[in-house]
Amino acid sequence: MAENHAENQTHGEEAQRQQVLVDIIDKGEPIIRTERLFLRPLRDSDVPFVFGLRSIAEVMKYSSTQKPDDDITFTRGRLQSFNHPQSIGFIVHEAGPSSSCADPESAPKIGFPGVVLQCGKYEIGYIMHPDAWGKGYTTEAIGAMIDAWWRISAAFPPAAASPDAGDGSEAPDRDAVWALTHKLNVASNRVLEKCGFHAVREFDHHLGETIEWRIQRP
Ligand SMILES: CC(C)(COP(=O)(O)OP(=O)(O)OC[C@H]1O[C@@H](n2cnc3c(N)ncnc32)[C@H](O)[C@@H]1OP(=O)(O)O)[C@@H](O)C(=O)NCCC(=O)NCCS
Repeated sequence: MAENHAENQTHGEEAQRQQVLVDIIDKGEPIIRTERLFLRPLRDSDVPFVFGLRSIAEVMKYSSTQKPDDDITFTRGRLQSFNHPQSIGFIVHEAGPSSSCADPESAPKIGFPGVVLQCGKYEIGYIMHPDAWGKGYTTEAIGAMIDAWWRISAAFPPAAASPDAGDGSEAPDRDAVWALTHKLNVASNRVLEKCGFHAVREFDHHLGETIEWRIQRP
């Protein structure tokens, strides 16, 4: 009985994983549906939402500016990196169990993860609204986004070599995604660990002790 239960659970987990992959609807816009969340690409109309998030001191504590954005123009400028053809930002909606919301976009927006091509590497970042913290949402969103990323990035046009990559590489490696976190950002470090990232090095940065993380395409 216990064995059957464990087997069913494994099948359930695999089915859920497959569900995430199947639900990337290729209409030019990658859409990701998980058990409780809905992720769709960032749009210009999302700038006020992202500004709202970036106006919260505790959200920005470990960011590169370490403080809330002064105004929406600054936020808009920061989002320019997502206009790059090799980068993508998502808005996360709290959509509830997959059958419960006919129009997931009408569900509340709770976060903003994405992958940007930076210094020759694909680098992940994410911020979530504090009301959504502690519910496993970020782990769910980032796990699904990384799963989807391997397919999304495979469809990108060829990328030119980055002059600032610093490692002599020809072009960015689409089979790896990187992350940088503050060593004290326990929640973020745990999210990455749970999503399969490995810490590759620690170094002193002017923003504080930093951990560099990497995940390889499975
Ligand atoms: C980092 C952040 C996205 C985590 O969001 P979240 O939705 O609360 O994360 P999850 O609920 O998926 O939790 C993931 C893990 O972190 C742990 N965790 C969450 N908050 C924690 C905290 N304050 N202290 C210790 N562990 C914490 C959870 O317990 C969980 O681990 P577990 O399953 O082993 O118990 C959120 O805190 C945030 O937006 N912070 C501000 C922005 C930021 O720092 N972004 C990352 C920049 S690199």
